[in-house]
Amino acid sequence: MSETPEITPEAVESAVDAALAAIAAAADTAQLKSVRSAHQGEGAPLAALNARLRDVPKDRKAELGKLVGQARGRVTQALAAREAELAEAETAARLEAERIDITALPSRTRVGARHPLTLLQEQIGDIFVGMGWAIAEGPELEHEWYNFDALNFDVDHPARQMQDTFFVDPVDRHLVMRTHTSPVQMRSMLERDVPVYVACPGRVYRTDEFDATHLPVFSQIEGLVVDKGITMAHLRGTLDHLARELFGADAKTRLRANYFPFTEPSAELDLWHPTFKGGARWIEWGGCGMVNPNVLRAAGIDPEVYSGFAFGMGIERTLMFRSDVQDMRDMAEGDVRFSEQFGMVV
Ligand code: PHE
Repeated sequence: MSETPEITPEAVESAVDAALAAIAAAADTAQLKSVRSAHQGEGAPLAALNARLRDVPKDRKAELGKLVGQARGRVTQALAAREAELAEAETAARLEAERIDITALPSRTRVGARHPLTLLQEQIGDIFVGMGWAIAEGPELEHEWYNFDALNFDVDHPARQMQDTFFVDPVDRHLVMRTHTSPVQMRSMLERDVPVYVACPGRVYRTDEFDATHLPVFSQIEGLVVDKGITMAHLRGTLDHLARELFGADAKTRLRANYFPFTEPSAELDLWHPTFKGGARWIEWGGCGMVNPNVLRAAGIDPEVYSGFAFGMGIERTLMFRSDVQDMRDMAEGDVRFSEQFGMVV
């Protein structure tokens, strides 16, 4: 054990200097703790000098006691000051490390986009609801009776083959994937009381190729009105209104004679599209006509009292020439980049 030096101002000063240097050099509170025990604790040089006060002559006790006491006071002060400094720096560092930016945008799951076909179908539906009509729906897997027989298709009528039908096994159950939304006409007449004003949107199926202008699964919207005194003028007025709502004030419709077993007379429906990409022109839009009395009778409605009109058009086709979509397959493939181009409105 080394001898403790005499209590001299030099010895005290050098012990204080050593302590202050060590305190200043402590880089964190853990290091400062060991500095504290080395320079303030029992084994510290200043503690040893303090212990020697016992041995100094009485007449010098006060003087030397003051010298050592002040020295220890300086070290205690320096320790406290450094302690506060380090604690503050450590708190600041911890706060910085744990900083949370409450203004940062969270990384969300992408929400996708509504499909333009859905949007257009709803928009067309809304136009009819706005006229007080109801929306009616029917099954996509349909009985042959609703899809053909009730609509006045003869058993071996060529129209049955004309619409390339998906027949569903077993054949003796007479189920088909509906080839048009017209079976909802019969369902609506059977389910509702006259007068009937319904729009029936939905998916239909045909054994068509999958190409730029054909899909084996597509959508139609059907309209059906049955009331007293309904004439072809009501049909024209309704179609013109729909055309203007969808294609602007200059849009109009034109009817050309055609044949459907469930309407008589029947017509091909053309649309005057005033803002068509390649210039204003007539475009084939769908089919329509006055409800065939045989269809009314099949629904238990007296054709001597009631008459009606019906029409149907493809929604994909409508979206195609309304929004200048070149390839129908884009509507079927479900790539969200296609849908996103339309935003929330079509
Ligand atoms: N269902 C017919 C078709 O798909 C269209 C149509 C509907 C024609 C209503 C007349 C009346 O081609």
